[in-house]
Amino acid sequence: METVKIAIMGFGTIGSGIAEVLEKQRNVIISRTGRVYEVTKILDIRDFSLHPMKDRFTKNIEDILNDDSISVVAESIGGTKPAFEFVMSCIKAGKHVVSSNKELVATKGVEILKAAQEAGVGFLFEASVGGTLPLISSITGILQANSISKIDGILNGTTNYILTNIEKKKISFEHALERAQDLGYAETPDPSADIDGHDAARKIAILASLLYGYHMPVSRVATEGIRGVSSFDLELAQNLNGTIKLIASCYGDNYGQARVSVRPAYIFKTHRLASVDDVNNMVLLDCNMSGIVSVYGRGAGKLPTAAVMVGDIIELTQRSDFSQLLWDSELVLDADRQEQPLRYFVTVYSDNKKLITKLVEQVDAGSITDNSAAFFTSRIMRSEAEKLKKKLETYNVTVKLYEVVEE
Ligand code: NDP
Ligand code: HSE
Repeated sequence: METVKIAIMGFGTIGSGIAEVLEKQRNVIISRTGRVYEVTKILDIRDFSLHPMKDRFTKNIEDILNDDSISVVAESIGGTKPAFEFVMSCIKAGKHVVSSNKELVATKGVEILKAAQEAGVGFLFEASVGGTLPLISSITGILQANSISKIDGILNGTTNYILTNIEKKKISFEHALERAQDLGYAETPDPSADIDGHDAARKIAILASLLYGYHMPVSRVATEGIRGVSSFDLELAQNLNGTIKLIASCYGDNYGQARVSVRPAYIFKTHRLASVDDVNNMVLLDCNMSGIVSVYGRGAGKLPTAAVMVGDIIELTQRSDFSQLLWDSELVLDADRQEQPLRYFVTVYSDNKKLITKLVEQVDAGSITDNSAAFFTSRIMRSEAEKLKKKLETYNVTVKLYEVVEE
């Protein structure tokens, strides 16, 4: 039986998950592929001298590069330094690479894909967007006969876990974040990429690049995270038959006009995304031939993500053609925030009960408590919504605006 020798770079949550999936699913994989997949080298800076696989660890990338028996390398270090250099070196050494690293793919995808094309090897990164969700393979595979004009989705497990726990279990933000870290969902060592929306921005930028075939810089994604979402906002949203989720969107055409954003938004309970709780992600792809296609599953976590990386490894060893899916760097997509009229969910707070009562007389407030009120605007431009916010703030109250995402 053929043995495929693989190396893992970065043996943290996901890297160790790859070894675990290969071990647990060994017989299933053998029966499906007729091959044994064996981890022969593991690169990590930490000390694994007491680990059962201690003999396979190295701190020197050359040990992987110079080992001709290794045909596939899994990168799960994270970040771009030194992951970019390591991945490029592996590709140049003629090894296929799989990665779960969205920062790497979103910022260096153009160079890596080109290098893989030139070297005649494969570079797959399904796990970099939405953990276990088969998004990239759907867009580039079974859905490729469609034009996809719109994507709305929940693409970050950590923030969805936090919002769900604040809303449904009344747990504090800090406590929910700690749990997400303990469960291995959050970015390490600093979860601010999750909280501030950058992780979801990288993922939607990758999807936009795949859709249009041109590089979508992450800097062009209008990004806002969940730090400003309070438990009061979630309660007010609930009172008005909805919830607040961190939504990543991409609306565009094939000519470089796209509106790509990540922001906390109000969604009605009847919306498909509203019931996506905890670490789960869901993406709705608006396809002109197939209609709306939804892809749902665990957006983060050790085994769900690692299983997808192992899927990519198997896929690469079964292919004979490595013409690489590519996106180009030549045209920078114009991701301008073309204004379009939207409804807004507005929340207002003050310790001064009289103020709230006075304000409520002026706006048609749908939900009112002693010190807060919430209402919807009609479809208005963002600039008008900001004007309304400023006007309300002259009463010395705290005001927040959330776009309403509709199907
Ligand atoms: P971890 O921090 O758990 O694992 C990374 C490992 O790489 C750590 O052991 C780290 O050591 C090690 N490392 C750091 N620098 C080097 C280096 N120079 N050479 C070799 N090893 C190094 O991260 P995750 O496993 O959670 O994530 C890995 C990647 O997968 C990230 O890009 C992440 O965004 C992505 N991802 C994560 C998911 C998840 O659920 N966790 C899901 C989908 C994608 P040390 O701890 O000492 O820094
Ligand atoms: N930190 C990421 C998340 C990991 O929570 O979604 C999966 O990409």
